Amino acid sequence: MDLEALFKPESIAVVGASRTPGKIGYEIVRNLKEYGYSGRVYPVNPQAREILGLKSYPSISAIPDKIDMVVVSVPAAMVPDVVEEAGRKGAKVAVVISSGFKEVGRQDLEDEVVERARKYGMRVLGPNIFGVVYSPARINASFGPKDVIPGHVAFVTQSGALGIALMGMTIVERIGVSAIVSIGNKSDIDDADLLEYLVNDDATKVILIYLEGVKDGKRFIEVARRVSAIKPIIVIKAGRTEVGAKAVASHTGSLAGNVVIYSSVFKQTGILEARNIEEAFDWARALSYLPEYKNGDLVVVTNGGGAGVMVTDTLALNGVYLSSPPEKLVKEIKPKLPGFASLGNPIDVTGMITNEGYVDTVISSLLNDDVGAVLAVYCQTAVTDPTIIAGLIIRKIKEMGGLSKPLVASMIGGEEVYWAIQKLNDAGIPAYPTPERAASSIASLINYSKIRKRLTGNA
Ligand code: ACO
Repeated sequence: MDLEALFKPESIAVVGASRTPGKIGYEIVRNLKEYGYSGRVYPVNPQAREILGLKSYPSISAIPDKIDMVVVSVPAAMVPDVVEEAGRKGAKVAVVISSGFKEVGRQDLEDEVVERARKYGMRVLGPNIFGVVYSPARINASFGPKDVIPGHVAFVTQSGALGIALMGMTIVERIGVSAIVSIGNKSDIDDADLLEYLVNDDATKVILIYLEGVKDGKRFIEVARRVSAIKPIIVIKAGRTEVGAKAVASHTGSLAGNVVIYSSVFKQTGILEARNIEEAFDWARALSYLPEYKNGDLVVVTNGGGAGVMVTDTLALNGVYLSSPPEKLVKEIKPKLPGFASLGNPIDVTGMITNEGYVDTVISSLLNDDVGAVLAVYCQTAVTDPTIIAGLIIRKIKEMGGLSKPLVASMIGGEEVYWAIQKLNDAGIPAYPTPERAASSIASLINYSKIRKRLTGNA
């Protein structure tokens, strides 16, 4: 069934909208209002007349409008009746925030919610979730941070608190998101349903899933394989050890399953399995910012030999191997570089290089027809200025009319480097503070390109 109402509702009722700042039902209404949703929002609370300047209604049926989405934030025991009323009203999706279901042994209550929703053809997200965000429609129906940056990563999370924390991290790390969906107990809407919707969502370029366990493995595999051929899916799988799997069971009541089986399923279906949160977000940034890697050499440009070695190692650990740089490129850059520069791959322009010399080498590499992707690794030195380097790279790429192939940067150093990284990221050039993170991110693009070719039969 269609999930349009979850992402593009024309009207939203919040049942359990609270009059008290700091309570979940209050913060959801505030996020909806302040993030800029332009549809109609109806707080529902029998005790209130008005919440945050919005007229409040004693029940869903008292609302004089059709309702597409109902956000439910009342204690668990009341949820089945609220869902029934929402269904009767013609709502298409219920977003059930409340905890107190399967995760505490109340499978019966959870089943009742789903049964009642099904009677009316209504879908259920949750329960036990923090809500849903869809930035193109300026919907923030969650009690997470408000000012999510619009962009192209759709983040689906089985964990609530961790999901909220990561939502905050996307803001600090300047990662733009299209959607954030908390799926909690997955009583009805699950990962596969969301993959099927998001694959056709124009705003979404990459789908990132925090996964503890899947319910219907067969369907997940079938859908994930289909979606991976079109858009990259990154998964962080929690419960990878025996003790971790036990923790999963008491968290969302899911079966974490065997880590080896999961990893082989991810490989088969083309899912990129990240080892940790940092790696998942690093990859999501690169895959969502950059044009697709098609073919051609990966060229690494560095002013630090050691950083070049770290990059070479990390690439190899991710299955990517460097070959000698194209001859034409070597001929072009050689006369402009110090005599002791190393013209292998990585191209080591040495610590003597100037701002302009470093940037010229990066740009020449990008413009070379045989080069398919560039990794620019910069170590802060006294003879260069990271702010100038970042600014020059941004300006030259603008003059080129934008990137037509992937460029990932790593800038290593002190405070000025921190700001230069922000500047590059804000300009849509993924930049990282360590060579390993940058190398692993460019490798994710190259590996996804191989996966896509395999799945579409265009190897
Ligand atoms: N219809 C509409 N509103 C009602 C109704 C009703 N039938 N009955 C009561 N209300 C009102 C209440 O009066 C109250 O408003 P007020 O604050 O203005 O008086 C409001 O609805 C909320 O009801 P409360 O009984 O005060 O419930 P409370 O806000 O304390 O808790 C909640 C409700 C948040 C759903 C809670 O039961 C719960 O499940 N909390 C956990 C949520 C959670 O953590 N989700 C999980 C994942 S995210 C994560 O892990 C961080």
